[in-house]
Amino acid sequence: MRCDRVWHHARLATMAGDGLGEVEHGVIASHNGRIRYAGPAADAPTFDATERIDCAGRWITPGLIDCHTHLVYGGDRAHEFELRLEGASYEEIARAGGGIVSTMQATRAATKAELLASALPRLDALLAEGVTTVEIKSGYGLDLANETKQLRTARALADERAVRVETSFLGAHALPPGRDADDYIREVVDEMLPAIADAELADAVDAFCEGIGFTAEQTERVFAAAAAHGLPVKLHADQLSDLGGSGLAARFHALSADHIEYASDASLDAMADAGTVATLLPGAFYFVRETKLPPIEGLRARHIGIALATDCNPGTAPMTSILLVMNMAATLFRLTVPECLTGVTRNAAAALGLADQIGTLEPGKACDLAIWDIERPAELVYRIGFNPLHQRIFNGAPT
Ligand code: NIG
Ligand code: FE
Repeated sequence: MRCDRVWHHARLATMAGDGLGEVEHGVIASHNGRIRYAGPAADAPTFDATERIDCAGRWITPGLIDCHTHLVYGGDRAHEFELRLEGASYEEIARAGGGIVSTMQATRAATKAELLASALPRLDALLAEGVTTVEIKSGYGLDLANETKQLRTARALADERAVRVETSFLGAHALPPGRDADDYIREVVDEMLPAIADAELADAVDAFCEGIGFTAEQTERVFAAAAAHGLPVKLHADQLSDLGGSGLAARFHALSADHIEYASDASLDAMADAGTVATLLPGAFYFVRETKLPPIEGLRARHIGIALATDCNPGTAPMTSILLVMNMAATLFRLTVPECLTGVTRNAAAALGLADQIGTLEPGKACDLAIWDIERPAELVYRIGFNPLHQRIFNGAPT
Protein backbone atom coordinates (compact mmCIF):
# COMPACT_ATOMS: atom_id res chain seq x y z
CA MET A 1 0.00 0.00 0.00
CA ARG A 2 1.43 3.36 -1.06
CA CYS A 3 1.61 5.93 1.72
CA ASP A 4 3.48 9.02 2.85
CA ARG A 5 4.21 8.05 6.45
CA VAL A 6 3.95 5.01 8.67
CA TRP A 7 4.06 5.18 12.45
CA HIS A 8 4.95 1.73 13.74
CA HIS A 9 5.79 0.11 17.07
CA ALA A 10 2.94 2.14 18.59
CA ARG A 11 0.10 1.50 20.99
CA LEU A 12 -3.18 2.94 19.77
CA ALA A 13 -6.30 4.29 21.42
CA THR A 14 -8.35 4.49 18.24
CA MET A 15 -11.48 5.79 20.04
CA ALA A 16 -13.50 3.95 17.39
CA GLY A 17 -16.42 1.88 18.68
CA ASP A 18 -17.00 1.56 22.41
CA GLY A 19 -14.25 2.44 24.85
CA LEU A 20 -10.73 3.35 23.91
CA GLY A 21 -10.32 0.92 21.02
CA GLU A 22 -6.92 -0.12 22.35
CA VAL A 23 -4.40 -1.79 20.04
CA GLU A 24 -1.28 -3.06 21.77
CA HIS A 25 0.92 -3.60 18.70
CA GLY A 26 -0.35 -0.91 16.37
CA VAL A 27 0.54 0.89 13.20
CA ILE A 28 -0.86 3.95 11.43
CA ALA A 29 -0.30 4.85 7.78
CA SER A 30 -1.14 8.24 6.24
CA HIS A 31 -1.48 9.38 2.67
CA ASN A 32 -2.31 12.89 1.45
CA GLY A 33 -3.09 13.96 5.01
CA ARG A 34 -5.56 11.16 5.68
CA ILE A 35 -5.36 7.91 7.59
CA ARG A 36 -5.02 4.94 5.23
CA TYR A 37 -4.62 2.30 7.90
CA ALA A 38 -4.87 2.28 11.70
CA GLY A 39 -4.88 -1.01 13.55
CA PRO A 40 -2.91 -4.07 14.56
CA ALA A 41 0.49 -4.50 12.90
CA ALA A 42 -0.38 -8.17 12.40
CA ASP A 43 -3.33 -7.26 10.12
CA ALA A 44 -1.57 -4.44 8.25
CA PRO A 45 -0.85 -4.60 4.53
CA THR A 46 2.71 -4.12 3.28
CA PHE A 47 3.42 -0.40 3.10
CA ASP A 48 5.43 1.36 0.40
CA ALA A 49 6.15 4.38 2.60
CA THR A 50 8.19 7.53 2.05
CA GLU A 51 8.95 7.81 5.76
CA ARG A 52 8.77 5.32 8.63
CA ILE A 53 8.64 6.51 12.24
CA ASP A 54 9.46 4.14 15.13
CA CYS A 55 7.20 5.16 18.03
CA ALA A 56 9.14 3.04 20.54
CA GLY A 57 5.92 1.79 22.14
CA ARG A 58 4.43 5.24 22.69
CA TRP A 59 0.66 5.67 22.76
CA ILE A 60 -1.15 7.41 19.88
CA THR A 61 -4.61 8.97 20.26
CA PRO A 62 -6.54 11.05 17.77
CA GLY A 63 -5.49 14.70 17.92
CA LEU A 64 -7.53 16.25 20.74
CA ILE A 65 -10.48 18.51 19.97
CA ASP A 66 -11.47 21.53 22.07
CA CYS A 67 -15.06 21.95 20.85
CA HIS A 68 -16.11 25.03 22.88
CA THR A 69 -13.89 28.08 23.35
CA HIS A 70 -14.07 31.86 23.34
CA LEU A 71 -10.36 32.04 22.59
CA VAL A 72 -10.35 35.41 20.80
CA TYR A 73 -11.04 38.39 23.07
CA GLY A 74 -9.55 41.65 24.28
CA GLY A 75 -8.31 42.35 27.81
CA ASP A 76 -8.86 40.08 30.79
CA ARG A 77 -11.10 39.95 33.85
CA ALA A 78 -8.58 39.45 36.63
CA HIS A 79 -10.13 42.38 38.51
CA GLU A 80 -13.57 40.72 38.45
CA PHE A 81 -11.93 37.60 39.79
CA GLU A 82 -10.70 39.67 42.73
CA LEU A 83 -14.23 41.05 43.27
CA ARG A 84 -15.57 37.52 43.28
CA LEU A 85 -13.01 36.57 45.91
CA GLU A 86 -14.47 39.39 48.02
CA GLY A 87 -17.93 37.85 47.70
CA ALA A 88 -19.54 39.15 44.49
CA SER A 89 -21.14 36.50 42.28
CA TYR A 90 -20.63 36.08 38.53
CA GLU A 91 -24.24 37.09 37.93
CA GLU A 92 -24.01 40.18 40.18
CA ILE A 93 -20.93 41.39 38.32
CA ALA A 94 -22.69 40.86 34.99
CA ARG A 95 -25.79 42.74 36.13
CA ALA A 96 -23.61 45.64 37.34
CA GLY A 97 -22.24 46.13 33.82
CA GLY A 98 -19.15 43.97 34.12
CA GLY A 99 -18.86 40.46 32.81
CA ILE A 100 -19.28 39.86 29.10
CA VAL A 101 -19.92 43.56 28.49
CA SER A 102 -16.54 44.54 29.94
CA THR A 103 -14.84 42.08 27.58
CA MET A 104 -16.97 43.51 24.76
CA GLN A 105 -15.47 46.93 25.44
CA ALA A 106 -11.90 45.59 25.43
CA THR A 107 -12.57 43.53 22.30
CA ARG A 108 -14.07 46.47 20.44
CA ALA A 109 -11.05 48.60 21.37
CA ALA A 110 -8.57 46.03 20.01
CA THR A 111 -7.41 45.79 16.40
CA LYS A 112 -7.51 42.48 14.58
CA ALA A 113 -3.72 42.28 14.89
CA GLU A 114 -3.95 42.85 18.64
CA LEU A 115 -6.65 40.20 19.02
CA LEU A 116 -4.54 37.77 17.02
CA ALA A 117 -1.45 38.47 19.13
CA SER A 118 -3.31 37.95 22.40
CA ALA A 119 -5.06 34.77 21.20
CA LEU A 120 -1.91 33.04 19.93
CA PRO A 121 -0.38 32.19 23.33
CA ARG A 122 -3.71 30.71 24.42
CA LEU A 123 -3.92 28.67 21.24
CA ASP A 124 -0.30 27.57 21.61
CA ALA A 125 -1.01 26.28 25.11
CA LEU A 126 -3.78 24.07 23.71
CA LEU A 127 -1.65 22.84 20.82
CA ALA A 128 1.16 21.96 23.23
CA GLU A 129 -1.24 19.43 24.77
CA GLY A 130 -2.07 17.70 21.50
CA VAL A 131 -5.09 19.72 20.35
CA THR A 132 -5.48 19.66 16.56
CA THR A 133 -8.99 21.15 16.23
CA VAL A 134 -10.40 24.09 18.16
CA GLU A 135 -13.79 25.74 18.02
CA ILE A 136 -13.78 29.50 18.54
CA LYS A 137 -16.85 31.66 19.15
CA SER A 138 -17.48 35.32 18.56
CA GLY A 139 -19.73 37.05 21.09
CA TYR A 140 -17.51 39.83 22.43
CA GLY A 141 -18.07 42.23 19.53
CA LEU A 142 -21.87 42.41 19.72
CA ASP A 143 -22.15 44.49 16.56
CA LEU A 144 -21.53 43.47 12.98
CA ALA A 145 -18.13 45.12 12.57
CA ASN A 146 -16.70 43.74 15.79
CA GLU A 147 -18.24 40.25 15.53
CA THR A 148 -16.78 40.12 12.03
CA LYS A 149 -13.39 41.21 13.38
CA GLN A 150 -13.48 38.45 16.00
CA LEU A 151 -14.46 35.75 13.50
CA ARG A 152 -11.84 36.87 10.98
CA THR A 153 -9.25 36.71 13.75
CA ALA A 154 -10.36 33.17 14.59
CA ARG A 155 -10.04 32.14 10.94
CA ALA A 156 -6.62 33.84 10.74
CA LEU A 157 -5.32 31.67 13.59
CA ALA A 158 -5.53 28.69 11.23
CA ASP A 159 -3.07 30.47 8.92
CA GLU A 160 -0.66 31.07 11.79
CA ARG A 161 -0.62 27.55 13.20
CA ALA A 162 -1.15 23.95 12.04
CA VAL A 163 -4.66 23.61 13.48
CA ARG A 164 -8.24 23.24 12.27
CA VAL A 165 -10.41 26.15 13.46
CA GLU A 166 -14.20 25.90 13.52
CA THR A 167 -16.05 29.14 14.17
CA SER A 168 -19.40 29.85 15.80
CA PHE A 169 -21.28 33.16 15.55
CA LEU A 170 -22.39 34.06 19.09
CA GLY A 171 -23.99 37.46 18.48
CA ALA A 172 -26.68 36.57 21.05
CA HIS A 173 -24.17 36.33 23.90
CA ALA A 174 -25.06 39.44 25.92
CA LEU A 175 -27.03 42.64 25.50
CA PRO A 176 -24.85 45.63 24.58
CA PRO A 177 -25.44 48.50 27.06
CA GLY A 178 -28.37 50.77 26.27
CA ARG A 179 -30.02 48.32 23.88
CA ASP A 180 -33.49 46.81 23.98
CA ALA A 181 -33.18 43.01 23.91
CA ASP A 182 -35.80 42.37 21.24
CA ASP A 183 -34.39 45.12 19.05
CA TYR A 184 -30.88 43.72 19.47
CA ILE A 185 -32.06 40.22 18.53
CA ARG A 186 -33.71 41.73 15.45
CA GLU A 187 -30.30 43.17 14.51
CA VAL A 188 -28.62 39.78 15.12
CA VAL A 189 -31.21 38.02 12.96
CA ASP A 190 -31.78 40.55 10.17
CA GLU A 191 -28.35 42.17 9.82
CA MET A 192 -25.50 40.39 11.55
CA LEU A 193 -26.29 36.75 10.82
CA PRO A 194 -27.02 37.22 7.08
CA ALA A 195 -23.80 39.22 6.56
CA ILE A 196 -21.70 36.72 8.50
CA ALA A 197 -23.28 33.78 6.68
CA ASP A 198 -22.68 35.45 3.29
CA ALA A 199 -19.03 36.01 4.15
CA GLU A 200 -18.79 32.37 5.27
CA LEU A 201 -17.29 33.45 8.58
CA ALA A 202 -19.26 31.03 10.76
CA ASP A 203 -19.55 27.25 10.71
CA ALA A 204 -22.32 27.30 13.32
CA VAL A 205 -24.51 29.68 15.32
CA ASP A 206 -24.56 29.77 19.13
CA ALA A 207 -26.50 31.77 21.74
CA PHE A 208 -26.60 32.27 25.53
CA CYS A 209 -30.05 31.29 26.78
CA GLU A 210 -30.06 32.46 30.40
CA GLY A 211 -31.46 35.04 32.80
CA ILE A 212 -28.38 37.22 32.15
CA GLY A 213 -28.44 36.28 28.44
CA PHE A 214 -31.48 35.84 26.21
CA THR A 215 -34.88 34.20 26.65
CA ALA A 216 -35.92 30.94 25.02
CA GLU A 217 -38.15 32.89 22.64
CA GLN A 218 -35.29 35.18 21.59
CA THR A 219 -32.98 32.19 21.21
CA GLU A 220 -35.58 30.53 19.00
CA ARG A 221 -35.57 33.53 16.66
CA VAL A 222 -31.80 33.25 16.31
CA PHE A 223 -32.04 29.50 15.64
CA ALA A 224 -34.74 29.98 13.01
CA ALA A 225 -32.52 32.50 11.22
CA ALA A 226 -29.55 30.12 11.41
CA ALA A 227 -31.66 27.37 9.85
CA ALA A 228 -32.75 29.73 7.09
CA HIS A 229 -29.06 30.29 6.29
CA GLY A 230 -28.27 26.59 6.42
CA LEU A 231 -26.10 26.90 9.54
CA PRO A 232 -26.19 24.33 12.36
CA VAL A 233 -26.79 25.57 15.89
CA LYS A 234 -25.45 24.94 19.40
CA LEU A 235 -26.39 26.58 22.68
CA HIS A 236 -25.11 27.76 26.05
CA ALA A 237 -28.00 26.11 27.84
CA ASP A 238 -29.16 25.71 31.43
CA GLN A 239 -25.82 26.85 32.88
CA LEU A 240 -27.16 28.89 35.81
CA SER A 241 -30.88 28.06 35.71
CA ASP A 242 -33.35 25.89 33.77
CA LEU A 243 -34.88 27.89 30.94
CA GLY A 244 -35.50 24.77 28.88
CA GLY A 245 -32.56 25.69 26.66
CA SER A 246 -31.26 22.16 26.13
CA GLY A 247 -34.68 21.01 24.95
CA LEU A 248 -35.03 24.03 22.69
CA ALA A 249 -31.62 23.31 21.21
CA ALA A 250 -32.63 19.71 20.56
CA ARG A 251 -35.82 20.79 18.81
CA PHE A 252 -33.59 22.69 16.37
CA HIS A 253 -31.39 19.58 15.99
CA ALA A 254 -28.50 21.39 17.63
CA LEU A 255 -25.07 19.83 17.31
CA SER A 256 -24.62 20.34 21.04
CA ALA A 257 -26.14 21.79 24.18
CA ASP A 258 -23.35 23.11 26.37
CA HIS A 259 -22.98 23.45 30.19
CA ILE A 260 -26.50 21.95 30.97
CA GLU A 261 -26.07 21.76 34.76
CA TYR A 262 -29.75 22.64 35.23
CA ALA A 263 -31.21 20.72 32.26
CA SER A 264 -34.52 18.96 33.01
CA ASP A 265 -35.38 15.34 32.23
CA ALA A 266 -37.69 16.52 29.46
CA SER A 267 -34.80 18.43 27.88
CA LEU A 268 -32.56 15.36 28.11
CA ASP A 269 -35.25 13.27 26.42
CA ALA A 270 -35.35 15.77 23.57
CA MET A 271 -31.55 15.73 23.29
CA ALA A 272 -31.52 11.95 23.09
CA ASP A 273 -34.17 11.98 20.35
CA ALA A 274 -32.28 14.60 18.34
CA GLY A 275 -28.81 13.13 18.80
CA THR A 276 -27.65 16.41 20.35
CA VAL A 277 -24.28 16.09 22.11
CA ALA A 278 -23.95 17.29 25.73
CA THR A 279 -20.82 19.42 25.98
CA LEU A 280 -19.72 19.66 29.60
CA LEU A 281 -17.42 22.46 30.70
CA PRO A 282 -15.92 21.49 34.06
CA GLY A 283 -13.51 24.43 34.06
CA ALA A 284 -16.42 26.89 34.13
CA PHE A 285 -18.19 24.75 36.75
CA TYR A 286 -15.06 24.92 38.89
CA PHE A 287 -14.29 28.58 38.33
CA VAL A 288 -17.77 29.93 39.17
CA ARG A 289 -17.91 27.49 42.10
CA GLU A 290 -21.10 25.95 40.71
CA THR A 291 -22.60 23.34 43.03
CA LYS A 292 -25.26 21.83 40.76
CA LEU A 293 -23.69 18.92 38.92
CA PRO A 294 -24.64 18.27 35.31
CA PRO A 295 -27.06 15.32 34.99
CA ILE A 296 -24.42 12.70 34.25
CA GLU A 297 -26.62 9.69 35.08
CA GLY A 298 -29.42 11.08 32.95
CA LEU A 299 -27.01 11.45 30.03
CA ARG A 300 -25.66 7.94 30.47
CA ALA A 301 -29.12 6.38 30.78
CA ARG A 302 -30.16 8.02 27.50
CA HIS A 303 -26.87 7.28 25.68
CA ILE A 304 -26.38 10.99 25.00
CA GLY A 305 -22.84 11.63 23.78
CA ILE A 306 -20.75 13.61 26.26
CA ALA A 307 -18.12 16.02 24.96
CA LEU A 308 -15.69 18.01 27.12
CA ALA A 309 -14.13 21.40 26.38
CA THR A 310 -12.18 24.18 28.05
CA ASP A 311 -14.74 26.98 27.44
CA CYS A 312 -11.57 29.14 27.40
CA ASN A 313 -12.93 32.64 28.14
CA PRO A 314 -11.96 35.53 30.42
CA GLY A 315 -15.04 35.36 32.66
CA THR A 316 -15.86 31.80 33.66
CA ALA A 317 -12.96 29.68 32.43
CA PRO A 318 -9.61 31.41 31.95
CA MET A 319 -8.08 28.05 31.13
CA THR A 320 -6.08 26.63 28.26
CA SER A 321 -5.54 23.02 29.33
CA ILE A 322 -7.60 20.25 27.74
CA LEU A 323 -5.74 17.73 29.92
CA LEU A 324 -6.89 19.54 33.06
CA VAL A 325 -10.45 19.56 31.67
CA MET A 326 -10.33 15.75 31.60
CA ASN A 327 -9.03 15.57 35.15
CA MET A 328 -11.76 17.97 36.33
CA ALA A 329 -14.45 15.96 34.52
CA ALA A 330 -13.24 12.82 36.22
CA THR A 331 -12.79 14.37 39.66
CA LEU A 332 -15.77 16.75 39.77
CA PHE A 333 -18.26 14.87 37.55
CA ARG A 334 -16.99 11.30 38.11
CA LEU A 335 -16.59 10.62 34.41
CA THR A 336 -14.62 7.48 33.61
CA VAL A 337 -11.33 7.54 31.70
CA PRO A 338 -12.97 6.29 28.47
CA GLU A 339 -15.72 8.91 28.86
CA CYS A 340 -13.12 11.66 29.34
CA LEU A 341 -11.05 10.62 26.32
CA THR A 342 -14.14 10.13 24.15
CA GLY A 343 -15.22 13.60 25.28
CA VAL A 344 -12.18 15.30 23.77
CA THR A 345 -12.06 13.12 20.63
CA ARG A 346 -15.01 11.32 19.06
CA ASN A 347 -17.84 13.13 20.84
CA ALA A 348 -16.13 16.50 20.48
CA ALA A 349 -15.98 15.86 16.73
CA ALA A 350 -19.72 15.13 16.77
CA ALA A 351 -20.33 18.36 18.70
CA LEU A 352 -18.76 20.18 15.74
CA GLY A 353 -20.57 18.18 13.06
CA LEU A 354 -17.23 16.67 12.03
CA ALA A 355 -17.79 13.07 13.13
CA ASP A 356 -17.00 11.79 9.65
CA GLN A 357 -13.70 13.71 9.41
CA ILE A 358 -11.90 13.69 12.78
CA GLY A 359 -12.07 12.27 16.30
CA THR A 360 -11.05 8.63 15.78
CA LEU A 361 -8.15 6.73 14.23
CA GLU A 362 -9.96 5.25 11.24
CA PRO A 363 -9.19 5.07 7.53
CA GLY A 364 -10.46 8.08 5.60
CA LYS A 365 -10.28 10.50 8.51
CA ALA A 366 -7.77 13.33 8.75
CA CYS A 367 -4.45 12.04 10.06
CA ASP A 368 -4.48 14.21 13.20
CA LEU A 369 -2.54 12.42 15.93
CA ALA A 370 -1.27 13.03 19.42
CA ILE A 371 1.71 10.84 20.36
CA TRP A 372 2.22 10.47 24.10
CA ASP A 373 5.03 9.46 26.46
CA ILE A 374 2.76 7.44 28.74
CA GLU A 375 2.41 3.85 29.86
CA ARG A 376 -1.40 3.82 29.86
CA PRO A 377 -4.13 6.18 28.60
CA ALA A 378 -5.47 6.81 32.13
CA GLU A 379 -2.35 8.94 32.74
CA LEU A 380 -3.79 11.62 30.44
CA VAL A 381 -6.70 12.04 32.83
CA TYR A 382 -5.00 11.26 36.13
CA ARG A 383 -2.06 13.64 36.20
CA ILE A 384 -2.46 17.33 37.03
CA GLY A 385 -0.25 19.99 35.49
CA PHE A 386 1.87 17.50 33.59
CA ASN A 387 2.06 17.34 29.81
CA PRO A 388 3.39 14.07 28.35
CA LEU A 389 2.90 15.02 24.69
CA HIS A 390 5.73 13.69 22.54
CA GLN A 391 4.54 14.98 19.18
CA ARG A 392 1.51 16.38 17.40
CA ILE A 393 0.63 15.38 13.84
CA PHE A 394 -1.74 17.56 11.81
CA ASN A 395 -3.12 16.34 8.49
CA GLY A 396 -0.37 13.74 8.37
CA ALA A 397 2.49 16.17 9.02
CA PRO A 398 4.58 16.47 12.20
CA THR A 399 4.24 19.90 13.83
O1 NIG B 1 -19.45 29.84 28.39
N1 NIG B 1 -22.03 31.60 29.51
C1 NIG B 1 -21.71 32.43 28.69
N2 NIG B 1 -20.54 32.54 28.12
C2 NIG B 1 -19.32 32.14 28.69
C3 NIG B 1 -18.82 33.15 29.66
C4 NIG B 1 -18.47 34.39 28.97
C5 NIG B 1 -17.86 35.43 29.86
O2 NIG B 1 -18.14 35.54 31.06
O3 NIG B 1 -17.09 36.23 29.29
C6 NIG B 1 -19.38 30.74 29.22
O4 NIG B 1 -19.35 30.48 30.43
FE1 FE C 1 -18.92 29.28 26.61
